Amino acid sequence: MCGIVGYIGDTQAADLLMEGLSRLEYRGYDSAGIAVLNGNGLDIRREVGKLRNLAKEVAVNAPKGLIGIGHTRWATHGRPTTTNAHPHTDTLGQLVVVHNGIFENYLEIKHELIKDGVIFLSDTDSEVLAHLVARSYTGDLRLAVQVALSRMHGSYAIAVLHQDHPDLLVAARNGCPLILGIGAEENFIASDIPAILNHTRQIIYLEDGDIAEVRQRSWSVFNLQGERQHRDQTTIEWSLVAAEKGGYDHFMLKEINEQPTTLAQTLGGRMGEEEGRVYVDEFGITDEQLRRIRQIVIVACGTSHYAGLVGEYYFEQLARIPTTVEYASEFRYRKPVVDGDTLIIGLSQSGETADTLAAIREANNLGGLTASILNVQGSAMSRETQGTLYMRVGPEIGVASTKAYTGTVASLLLVALHTAQVRGHVTADFVRETLGSLRQVPSWIEETLAEVGAIQDLAAMLHTFRNCLYLGRGVNYPTALEGALKLKELSYIHAEALPAGEMKHGPIALLDADFPVIAVATKSAVYDKTLSNLKEVAARDAVTIALGTRGDERLAEVVDRVIYVPETPEIISPLVNVVPLQLLAYYVATKKGCDVDQPRNLAKSVTVE
Ligand code: G6P
Repeated sequence: MCGIVGYIGDTQAADLLMEGLSRLEYRGYDSAGIAVLNGNGLDIRREVGKLRNLAKEVAVNAPKGLIGIGHTRWATHGRPTTTNAHPHTDTLGQLVVVHNGIFENYLEIKHELIKDGVIFLSDTDSEVLAHLVARSYTGDLRLAVQVALSRMHGSYAIAVLHQDHPDLLVAARNGCPLILGIGAEENFIASDIPAILNHTRQIIYLEDGDIAEVRQRSWSVFNLQGERQHRDQTTIEWSLVAAEKGGYDHFMLKEINEQPTTLAQTLGGRMGEEEGRVYVDEFGITDEQLRRIRQIVIVACGTSHYAGLVGEYYFEQLARIPTTVEYASEFRYRKPVVDGDTLIIGLSQSGETADTLAAIREANNLGGLTASILNVQGSAMSRETQGTLYMRVGPEIGVASTKAYTGTVASLLLVALHTAQVRGHVTADFVRETLGSLRQVPSWIEETLAEVGAIQDLAAMLHTFRNCLYLGRGVNYPTALEGALKLKELSYIHAEALPAGEMKHGPIALLDADFPVIAVATKSAVYDKTLSNLKEVAARDAVTIALGTRGDERLAEVVDRVIYVPETPEIISPLVNVVPLQLLAYYVATKKGCDVDQPRNLAKSVTVE
């Protein structure tokens, strides 16, 4: 999704803006631009495609000036073209705006402005704001932004620069992330922390409805009524190295390999093995409330949704609470049955996904209990739920989610264990035993990562196929879904996943020698059934590949190839089994020459509905 940076200080703004934008590339974008105030007016540069195109343009004749704003755009209204790229100006070219989000009523205002004689140069909703601010401007830029924003409905993070105010950046947010970075003799605006972490660790998280005035040595925050707001500064502990590739070819490969560490972070301090209990107080739902709830609804999108399906299994199997997992984008349009005894859990790596946020708001409106499992601290969803259990996996830069998936699954298991114990469905001994297994997950994943050679061989064979079917059963059906999602996201190979038993009810018609099947067939309560399903596949000449438990010779007799993983308790197995499927998708995609960290058409954090 779009990225915003802004700078005011004593250094050439263009350099800092370009650096900041490059650190926001992971958010996904298809054009980019910067605007700098150079003493005579605004110097604007915009280019379609990758940031290097803009960098080339900037390198030829860099804009000179100590204040500027920049933007990476992920097209929503209007195609990715130079004229649709941000920043956008007003008719006189006196001010520029950058915008992340969607102004839902922009057409109505656009028509009104056109009637007044305004000529629009782009198809974007964002340009409306530039003209509206110009029309409201009488010398006070913040006031003009305030008046303009009071007309706009929708989600936004914005930054505005006016040639009459070479000492002022105005920024505002409502529903899209935006932070201020406070430096010495310089200040920043950004969509996300990595954009400015090289320059400052002092951050202010803007809240919805905030308008900030940022100057070289000061900053202040107001609400949409112009009243001053108090906002605390936070010191960021993340190292920039943690947000960079750390020696791997791609962020995604680094993030897959980080999982032994990130899972240890997720679990750290939460496992009371001696006492046989789990500590998840931050989740924010009291024991009394956990005892009372009659149903759980998990809302999430994409990879987080599939993690939620594992959670469904945990809450039902362990805590015996009826649980459903909803696509967040569907939830609020289907009149969900929610009451004060319903717990709605939002799952989101970014905490900013618009569909999930909207579902949580709907759940709050309906009087449900809401909690979240998130990765990005201070994100919008944490402010809209009663409590947040952070998965603590560090910044995830690769657009395709990996370590956040396992972080979410592990967090769900902790919450489900705690809930089950509070409701009297599991004993302290069971909790102790499960925590003991969880403690081994990092080393089991290390063992699985060591299978990389076999996975690369498999990728070399698979990369020429156009379709692929993933099968799984029980708690590993979501593993199959996530494996298929990874393959299609990264390698653009059509991949679907089915519960293994469902295949014979129709989809089996698709199978032939050109349609490989990958099955999660590790030892479990449904192992024998899965094996029978695999025999059905093999009989159709399809190439069969299985994920099996180390030492399982029987499986090797049925399928063409086996990737072995260590033997794990079934309840824990999704955390380990997904890893080879992540690696497989990664190597198939790199073999095909695909852009693994930024697959086409995808965005890391989708902040529009
Ligand atoms: C986008 C990303 C997916 C991600 C989904 C949900 O579609 O491309 O990888 O799973 O958003 O993101 P969230 O931040 O809410 O987990």
